[in-house]
Amino acid sequence: MSEIICNCMGITKQEIVDAIKNEGCKTFEDIQKVTEAGTVCGGCEDDINDIIKETL
Ligand code: FES
Repeated sequence: MSEIICNCMGITKQEIVDAIKNEGCKTFEDIQKVTEAGTVCGGCEDDINDIIKETL
């Protein structure tokens, strides 16, 4: 549950789920703003979108 999703920023799946549940993130851009995941190479975008889909 706490695997690293964004290697560039060291953001875990749990941190992304928390941002969705507690900070109201609904899009990849929201996640970028709140967690800084996805702000470097963008390679984690698909994984983050999958987490948004399965969490919302
Ligand atoms: S792995 Fe997330 S920005 Fe590079």
